[in-house]
Amino acid sequence: MVVATHGAEKVTIQCLKKNIIVMIRTRRNRKNSAVRGLIREHLLHPNKLVYPMFLMEDDDAKEAIKTLPNQFRLGLNHIVTEIEKATKLGVNTFMLFPVVEEKYKTSTAEYALKEDMFYYRAIKTLKLKFPEVCFISDIALDPYSSDGHDGLVKDGEILNDETLVVLSQMAVLQAKNGFDILGPSDMMDGRIGHMREALNKEGFGNTSIMSYCAKYASAMYGPFRDALESAPKSGDKKTYQMDFLNRTEALRELDSDILEGADFVMVKPALHYLDIISDFKQNSPLPVAAYHVSGEYAMLRMGADNGLFAYDKAMPETLNAIHRAGSDIVITYAAIDYAVWFRDNYLAPN
Ligand code: PBG
Repeated sequence: MVVATHGAEKVTIQCLKKNIIVMIRTRRNRKNSAVRGLIREHLLHPNKLVYPMFLMEDDDAKEAIKTLPNQFRLGLNHIVTEIEKATKLGVNTFMLFPVVEEKYKTSTAEYALKEDMFYYRAIKTLKLKFPEVCFISDIALDPYSSDGHDGLVKDGEILNDETLVVLSQMAVLQAKNGFDILGPSDMMDGRIGHMREALNKEGFGNTSIMSYCAKYASAMYGPFRDALESAPKSGDKKTYQMDFLNRTEALRELDSDILEGADFVMVKPALHYLDIISDFKQNSPLPVAAYHVSGEYAMLRMGADNGLFAYDKAMPETLNAIHRAGSDIVITYAAIDYAVWFRDNYLAPN
């Protein structure tokens, strides 16, 4: 019989009617890297990563993003190079966001529905070149909207049902041009079901949906909005994105997205929302993804650049924490960096 609480250094056990004092030695199982390998519980594999990139219209363009160190707005030719680099390291899934020139942005975001728009041209080319690679789209109006909101705006209000019509049209165009998984990042109510129905009706029953399910109104999206120059012109996104003060409410989003037909559910951001990721893991029959967003990535880079810690140590610790909390899939700007670390530390025999 053990008569001490778990975690105590000394326990008294009763054996053959005698009390024996035992010193718990958890360090025994950490004595060398082979033993540590035996007891390892979690290790994020590069196949589980998604690498988000910003696509420009000009095929040869490459522009630095000031607030997102080491990430660029890229034309198609550079995107191809990145995909070749990443797939050699086991990263096989990419998320593409369109960088739309200001002159094409309007309050009704009709550029999103222009059939020969560069985003659609690019995915067609990429899918032909890389049939085995998985591409995830973005569905929301903000890259195309002169208001910088994810939905249509009328008198300062973000319209829900009117927006759904446009989102579903985008979904069909994206599916038609070859995206494997659609990524609605807009947080309008009912969008998953609305899109699923439109996709099925148009013959795209095989196109998946990764719902930005619990997406919080976060300060961490700053560098992303710089990358797309998509910050809201007025107001904030609190009438559609979730309040960071809430936890249980995320389960309502989860329930509705499961019922509406999502194939994956996402928590966003990641690191400040490990409790939500853990809740999703326990409650979701669908694979769970977490988006380690631009501000989270930039903090790591800038912290390392200022000597606070080593990037190649803090970055894998961060991404594995997100995975350990319950995220099957991790979307991160550090995908290639992580895959290099994984190769050097876990694939090379040592
Ligand atoms: C908007 C969208 C955002 C991100 C992805 N899609 C920002 C926002 O909601 O304002 C953020 C991603 C990141 O910060 O890396 N539809």
